[in-house]
Parts: sequence; structure tokens; C-alpha cells
Amino acid sequence: MGVFLKGKRIALKTVSKQDLAEFESLMSDREIDELAGEVYPVTQRSIDEFYEKCQRLEERVWFLIVDTQTNKIIGETGFLRINAPWRTADYSLVIWDRNFWNKGYGKETTALMFDYGFNYLNFHRLAIGVVEFNVNGFKFWKSVGFKEEGRQKEGYFCRGKYSDFIMMYMLEDDYRAGLSIKN
Ligand SMILES: CC(C)(COP(=O)(O)OP(=O)(O)OC[C@H]1O[C@@H](n2cnc3c(N)ncnc32)[C@H](O)[C@@H]1OP(=O)(O)O)[C@@H](O)C(=O)NCCC(=O)NCCS
Repeated sequence: MGVFLKGKRIALKTVSKQDLAEFESLMSDREIDELAGEVYPVTQRSIDEFYEKCQRLEERVWFLIVDTQTNKIIGETGFLRINAPWRTADYSLVIWDRNFWNKGYGKETTALMFDYGFNYLNFHRLAIGVVEFNVNGFKFWKSVGFKEEGRQKEGYFCRGKYSDFIMMYMLEDDYRAGLSIKN
């Protein structure tokens, strides 16, 4: 099992057991957890369940993002809550290695995932949710073509206070019309 999609500087590979230890050590950054809206710790069981879900391909398709120069895992991306009849899914992207932030790796990953999602998995709509205090994350989603469609008022609790949860969407039509990042 290995690389499934390939970009200029990154490769997206399926999740295998051998990668779990490296991936787990990368994920131990609480600040990034909070930016991604996650408050629970990683446990052996949550890792095992994550691995199992990634193998099934029923409601999620998941990849590890690898820097092809060093062959190191730098993050994860995937589609989850896939609803085939509705042609919808949620999109997720976390670059866990901060050394790779703001250098275009997120855009490169998303271009590959849009191509795969719209042209192979036949999605019509993708959605993401971003916590209000993740200002750079919000900028990022807009930069690749997502549009805000509403806010869950005080929908997230972290750092002792409530924050809005911003819901964003991306439609196949916008992708085909060239209104988003493309591969
Ligand atoms: C958000 C994230 C996915 C963006 O990926 P990235 O590789 O850092 O972003 P890119 O370099 O591809 O940047 C694309 C755009 O995002 C915005 N952006 C990204 N990082 C930014 C930063 N630190 N400051 C300001 N804008 C930023 C810019 O608009 C940029 O466009 P530009 O290059 O034309 O100016 C990544 O930084 C990350 O995983 N962060 C931590 C976890 C997270 O927030 N995940 C999303 C949860 S909803």
C-alpha cells in the first residue's frame, strides 16, 4: 500500500499500520488540536478506530500527506461523512508539521483532493467547519474556494470560552467554473 495521489512536492498515501507510530508522534500538538476543533486526547483505542475507519472506505477516504523530499509524514487529509446518494462529503486537512505551514502545501493538497473528489468520487458538494479563532485557517479555506454559509453561534467551547463555528461549502459547479484552486 502506498502513494495514491502525487503532487509536485507531496504525495498522498493510504494509512497503513507501519505509519501509525510516526503519525501519532506528529499529532501531539494541542494547539493544532484546538485550531482543528478537537479537545480530546489521542488514545490507543482512538488510533485503532481511526485506522479501522480508514481501511473501510465506506464513509471516509483518508490519506497521510508525505513530503516527497524527505519521505516524512507532514499531515493528513480526507473526506468523511460521505453520503453517496447526495454526492456530499466533509473535507478535512491538517498539516501537523508547522515547518510546512504557509508554504503552499495546503493548497497543493487541496488541489489534488478537489480533483479526486469532483472528478473521481463524483461529489457535488464539499463542506468544512472552522472555529472562529482559527483566523489563518479561515483565510486558507477562502483562498482555495470555500464560501461561508453560516455560523453556529457559540458552537465550540475551548480555552474556557465559546467560539462560533463557521460553516463553509464548495460546490462542484464553482470548481468546474474555475472559482477554486485546481490541480
Ligand atoms: C490551515 C492549513 C491547512 C493551511 O495550509 P498551508 O499549507 O499552511 O497554507 P498555504 O501555504 O497553502 O496557504 C494558502 C492560503 O492560506 C492563507 N494562509 C495560510 N497560512 C497563513 C498564515 N499563517 N497567515 C495568513 N494566511 C495564511 C493565505 O491566504 C494563503 O494564500 P496565499 O499564499 O495566496 O497568501 C495549515 O496551516 C494547517 O493545517 N494549520 C493547522 C490546522 C488547521 O487549522 N487546519 C484546518 C482546520 S479547519
